[in-house]
Amino acid sequence: MIQRYRIQFPRADVDDLAQDETFFYLLEPGGKRKIRFHDYREIYKMPGLYEQLFYERLKCQSPAKVTSILKSSVAQSQDSNFSELRVLDLGAGNGMMGECLKKEGISRLVGVDIIPEGYDAAMRDRPFVYDAYYTYDFCNLNSEQRDEMASWSFDCLTCVAALGFGDIPTKAFIEAFNLLKKNGWVGFNIKETFLDKSDETGFSKTIRELIFSEYLDIFILERYRHRFSIEGEELYYFAMAGWKNGDIPPHFIESIDEA
Ligand SMILES: C[S@@+](CC[C@H](N)C(=O)[O-])C[C@H]1O[C@@H](n2cnc3c(N)ncnc32)[C@H](O)[C@@H]1O
Repeated sequence: MIQRYRIQFPRADVDDLAQDETFFYLLEPGGKRKIRFHDYREIYKMPGLYEQLFYERLKCQSPAKVTSILKSSVAQSQDSNFSELRVLDLGAGNGMMGECLKKEGISRLVGVDIIPEGYDAAMRDRPFVYDAYYTYDFCNLNSEQRDEMASWSFDCLTCVAALGFGDIPTKAFIEAFNLLKKNGWVGFNIKETFLDKSDETGFSKTIRELIFSEYLDIFILERYRHRFSIEGEELYYFAMAGWKNGDIPPHFIESIDEA
């Protein structure tokens, strides 16, 4: 039986928080517990809580959206077959994106997440989705881990609801991008404001440079509602799918300022 939780959002007047500071209360027999949206360790430990919070209450549609534009992009190419892609799902969490990819026919799929709770939750809730799942920090891969990743000969990278906001930095994304074969497919999403030139943060500038660089040919870029905020506001993101043209060179990586 699916476990259900009593979730309560804070009153509007106490919630003027950035997206990565948002929290909710979990109502338990012993009292109410405050949990931040980004406290994935706590959330993944409770089966079904992530799904109830982000997918049922806040109507997140990002895994389905990124999967669909990736599939449409690949369909535009005569040389690739979607179901034959060897996919690296970066920031895989409890496997929501993996499940979508699997449903759409992907057969070779590897998940990676920085926290062991991601692995535990994926194995507990979706044990048949990933061929392998690694607890790696893509900002600090050692040579053994890099070799292990390279041995899969990935030709597709997905990264959903995980870029920016203190989650996956561009450096980790680039590491994964460069681990793909020379050419391959990439599907990911970012909050719409990150593409806005007025956002001068290091993350924003780097991601814009990367998206519009010669290393990536964007096939589809679509603005869509990622999910609702706890106040019921629509949060818009861009979903992107494209073709990797080649590795991102060291001089690009060295110039990254994430601040
Ligand atoms: C919002 S969750 C997204 C999970 C899943 N992709 C989905 O769509 O439901 C972001 C995930 O990125 C992971 N993450 C953050 N930094 C990371 C890093 N440096 N390397 C790998 N995973 C990371 C977090 O642990 C978290 O599980």
